[in-house]
Amino acid sequence: MSATTLIGPARSRVDGRLKVTGAAKYSVEFEVPKCAYGWTVESNIAKGKITAIETKAAQAVPGVLAVLTHLNMPKFKEAPKKEGGGGGAGIRNEERFPLSDDGVYYAGQYVALVVAETIEQARHAASLVRVSYAPEEPLLTMEAAVRKADKPKKNNDTPVQINKGDVATALKDASLVKIEQTYITPTETHNPIEMSGTIAHWEDDQKLTLYDATQFVKGVQNILARSLGLELENVRIICPFVGGAFGCKGAVWMHVLLAAMGSKVAGVPVKMHVTRRNMFVGAGHRTPTRQTLSLAATKDGKLQAIQHVSETLTSPVGQFTESCGSRSTGVMYESPSIRVEETVYPVNVSTPTFMRAPGECPGTYALECAMDELAIALKMDPVALRLANHADNHPTKNVPFSAKHLREAYQLGAEKFGWSKRNPELRSMRDGDLLVGWGMATATYPAHKMSAAAKVILRADNSATVQCATHDLGTGAYTAFTQISSEQLGVPFEKVTFELGKSDFPFGPVAGGSNSTGTVGTAIHEAAVLLHKALAELAVKDSKSPLYNTKIEEIGMVAEGRIGIVTDQTKSDSYADILKRAGRDSIEVQSEQKPPEENKKQAFQSWGAHFCEVKIDPLLPRVQVTRVVSVMNCGRIVSAKTARSQIMGGVTMGIGMALTEETSYDPATGLPVIRNLADYHVPTNADVPEIDVSFVGEPDFAFNPIGARGMGEIGITGIAAAIANAVYHATGKRVRDLPITPDKLI
Ligand code: MOS
Repeated sequence: MSATTLIGPARSRVDGRLKVTGAAKYSVEFEVPKCAYGWTVESNIAKGKITAIETKAAQAVPGVLAVLTHLNMPKFKEAPKKEGGGGGAGIRNEERFPLSDDGVYYAGQYVALVVAETIEQARHAASLVRVSYAPEEPLLTMEAAVRKADKPKKNNDTPVQINKGDVATALKDASLVKIEQTYITPTETHNPIEMSGTIAHWEDDQKLTLYDATQFVKGVQNILARSLGLELENVRIICPFVGGAFGCKGAVWMHVLLAAMGSKVAGVPVKMHVTRRNMFVGAGHRTPTRQTLSLAATKDGKLQAIQHVSETLTSPVGQFTESCGSRSTGVMYESPSIRVEETVYPVNVSTPTFMRAPGECPGTYALECAMDELAIALKMDPVALRLANHADNHPTKNVPFSAKHLREAYQLGAEKFGWSKRNPELRSMRDGDLLVGWGMATATYPAHKMSAAAKVILRADNSATVQCATHDLGTGAYTAFTQISSEQLGVPFEKVTFELGKSDFPFGPVAGGSNSTGTVGTAIHEAAVLLHKALAELAVKDSKSPLYNTKIEEIGMVAEGRIGIVTDQTKSDSYADILKRAGRDSIEVQSEQKPPEENKKQAFQSWGAHFCEVKIDPLLPRVQVTRVVSVMNCGRIVSAKTARSQIMGGVTMGIGMALTEETSYDPATGLPVIRNLADYHVPTNADVPEIDVSFVGEPDFAFNPIGARGMGEIGITGIAAAIANAVYHATGKRVRDLPITPDKLI
């Protein structure tokens, strides 16, 4: 079977035509009769109590159907906070229900909801709501929140405070070369093209349909059912297309609950489309981080100690840990002593959430800058330093990594980039008047495994429909799952229809943690095995079949569209003939959702290396990234085109992180001062060079039957460090707080 090749065929997106013609319907584009609109009022203080809310003027606006505040908001039932793991019952990063009391915990918190017949009426009425507060002094910084600091033992069931060996002694050893530096990353806000949004439609008082822009239809279903006291099957979530997500649509945010309750109270369907402005307070963000790295190495570059102290923020109404240390230093290099400390400070800012490689992304930025600084202290090539500390075994679990090909990634990346021509001296390379810098960094992201089930309907005309309640965030999942289905079922690519984005389908996990391809791919594999067995059962009972009276166990897929005796392929039968002779138009199977099998003898992690070039005008030091070479090792690459796009997307976001992206807050009010795409600078085409992506390794069949470890997030890890390291090489100026804007280089 072709499953042993590293790279699957380059297919164009199966949903490409629907997208470019506008036929693809995104959540808030669904048309629901008599749909009204929700508009929120947000708090302009960061902490305190609401003392009064004047809503009469709003209620008097023509078309207004309901004005909800904490005074008249119906109560939600308690829903699960976090039930992560293989099943995943849904996530609420913000654990307080909206409008549930008079408390204000962060600026921008929704304090009222207006529902009106038109969006203009709703917006106008919302502007007439008058809220009085008794403000209190908000905690807005780590320093201010020091007494509330928490050191969580675990994040998503994984220990995050790591103590291996004796770091303190190594860091005091005068014979070792040491560096210690602190790195800062700012708040980053998700800016997918499609903002979050929901249409809530009560079919009757016990039955709710939600068109929701989400990374987790089953999670939204579960949380809505439990918080509204409905039967699970009476809550339907529909989301066939997502216009980008990156983590901000992984949890259920307040607008979803408001739309559902607002619709219930108003008695009409309600649409709530989060504004770009409110994406900066209402759908999570990447927490700012402060990370102190202490490294000690022998003179030949062998690490003896790595200490990674990571400090991040959360909010008073939700616990979110951005595990910078454990998810980078905890897995990356071999060292006899490793210490990771993670501290979380609750501040009066909206709750952070997952953002592409949460933890790994800022964590690898700090670690990989520190490694560059150590390489310079050692007068060693940065690639050589990394090779000297390569970890064959997981540094803290002490089991071997499966199918790890990081050395090849460094080697191929260095070759393609021309790294051997690098002059290590600072400010030594030029292109005319421009300073040229070359930097590199390691990328890494874990292989997560969750559980899923898939349904397959195979028809006598050799076509198949495959269904799973999974998602395509714009990543190419429709295409990858069509490819996996075609290969596993033995049905031509053109004859497979893959359906996703509906809670009616068999369980699919959150489209997060880069798990979907491997997890849903495994479910498709399991369904294919069931399908071949079901066909075999028909064939062995059929005297006209070449497989008549054969033992079922001897039968498997032997070619596209055929099952046969695996050891004697002269005896086989086609799916179409088996179904026709049995008088069947179709056959249907469904795999079972069960907890993923754990292999504790190996560790599963993806790897990569980024090499990048920057050019900087010394008089106006604006950094231009001019070349990127990224080599990734993610097990099997299911889909050549979409995989390359994923890495390009990650690198592009990393360019934004390194150079331009920052959400800053007004220290007086706690409100973000940047709340639109004009001021929040994501990279444009002119900022992004050709990104040369390649893959190394082999399928990781020890991980799952698809051999794929997932690749949605690894592309963004390490890249900001590679850029920062290149900037240092070009300029001799080490910027340790992102983004590297021109003012910091002058
Ligand atoms: Mo991703 S940050 O796991 O949605």
